[in-house]
Amino acid sequence: MGYKEQLNYFALKETVTINEKDHLEIAGVDTIDLANKYGTPLVIYDIKTVRNNIEEFKNALATYPSEYEISYASKAFSSIAMYQVLDQENISVDVVSGGELFLAKEAGFPSEKIHFHGNNKSYQELVAALDYEIGHIIVDNFHELKMLEQLTKKREQKIKVIIRVTPGVTADTHKYIMTGHTDSKFGFDLKNGQAEEAVRLAQKSEFLELSGLHMHIGSQIFGTESYVLAMDQVLRSAKEWYISFGFQMKVLNIGGGFGIQHTPDDEAVSVKRQVETISQELVKLLDLYDLAYPILQIEPGRSIVGTAGTTIYEIGSKKAIPGIRNYISIDGGMSDNIRPAMYNSKYFASLANRMKDERTTKVSVAGKACESGDMLIMDLDLPEVKAGDKLAVFHTGDYAFAMASNYNRIPRPAVVFVENGREFLSIRREEVKDFMRFENHLPVDF
Ligand code: LLP
Repeated sequence: MGYKEQLNYFALKETVTINEKDHLEIAGVDTIDLANKYGTPLVIYDIKTVRNNIEEFKNALATYPSEYEISYASKAFSSIAMYQVLDQENISVDVVSGGELFLAKEAGFPSEKIHFHGNNKSYQELVAALDYEIGHIIVDNFHELKMLEQLTKKREQKIKVIIRVTPGVTADTHKYIMTGHTDSKFGFDLKNGQAEEAVRLAQKSEFLELSGLHMHIGSQIFGTESYVLAMDQVLRSAKEWYISFGFQMKVLNIGGGFGIQHTPDDEAVSVKRQVETISQELVKLLDLYDLAYPILQIEPGRSIVGTAGTTIYEIGSKKAIPGIRNYISIDGGMSDNIRPAMYNSKYFASLANRMKDERTTKVSVAGKACESGDMLIMDLDLPEVKAGDKLAVFHTGDYAFAMASNYNRIPRPAVVFVENGREFLSIRREEVKDFMRFENHLPVDF
């Protein structure tokens, strides 16, 4: 099979197949039927893949000699139904705003399995977290530490906290999604003594129960080296603080950031191998520093939902500039997936209604926003396309819908879950009349 033919099979797996109509089928559901029913753009989540991805993390962590906790980073994609799926799989979640906390709560997600992140949590957000008696607050800075100290004292309420430290390690990824280097807005700096001060303050607090430390070095990281370097920094400090003031690291959260494959040209990755290696290296470091094995928390977002998402668009206009470029336009773009414009991210796509047709022409896929930079995919081989064809863009489950906007007043797409031949509308499509929920007409006397 030639490369072009092989491309037709990228993203196909147990749950993602081609049916007898030559349509893309996910979990036994014809994606063209879904597009006809719900309209386009349409985001489809293959829930079995979400469950399999979680299972892979569980298998990878099974060899860690103490307890572990998988805390899904909701920011990658959240919906009430997704929180319910995560709960069915018996994992935890992290939230980064009052909005995500609200949704998790509405989903009935167990409060003790919710952990709260963020570099500027507001007073109201901290109150909401205390009201809901969540599992941990991951404290990011002195302002928050002080506010939380005062709040818990006033309420005479205890809460478990984890101190987020910045290990001073540069991860090999896009600079917009690196977080572990010293010049970062997140966390207490390990090298200049601020992290130690925060740990001391939390340890002597009456109402804050200090569980341990958190680090997160960035996102879409493929290797293990920067995790190991960062863990080494964190554990060395944990040992020093144990000796100097009896700090006990009951929990170590090493963040998320595990990379996924978005296109056939990306190297195939094994999250299992990556996490297994990190966990084994962690055990070596713990032994080296003679530290007790903490509960190991990880916070994957992208690697749980990314490969489970497919976006279906309808193709409309075309513009051929001979010798230069063939543009084809879709009915969405940067309003439902800002990642190409923001991080230069690459995607791969097929014609969902003609999966096996040979890819004979090179096209560039333009979004519909009034912005030259709204190009979803550059230089993609596709069959000759015509208006009305459906384009399936693969592996869009991570941070695409989650970062969607109403730029150009384009309504956000619907989100459908599919599993075992069944479909379910998780988030309904926005309609232009929804904009009126926020609008007021100018008063006559204004
Ligand atoms: N934990 C913390 C503290 C984080 O800041 C993040 C991501 C995660 C966990 C989850 O990382 P993941 O496993 O999903 O890589 N919008 C960007 C990604 C931003 C990531 C922000 N923090 C993108 O579309 O690539």
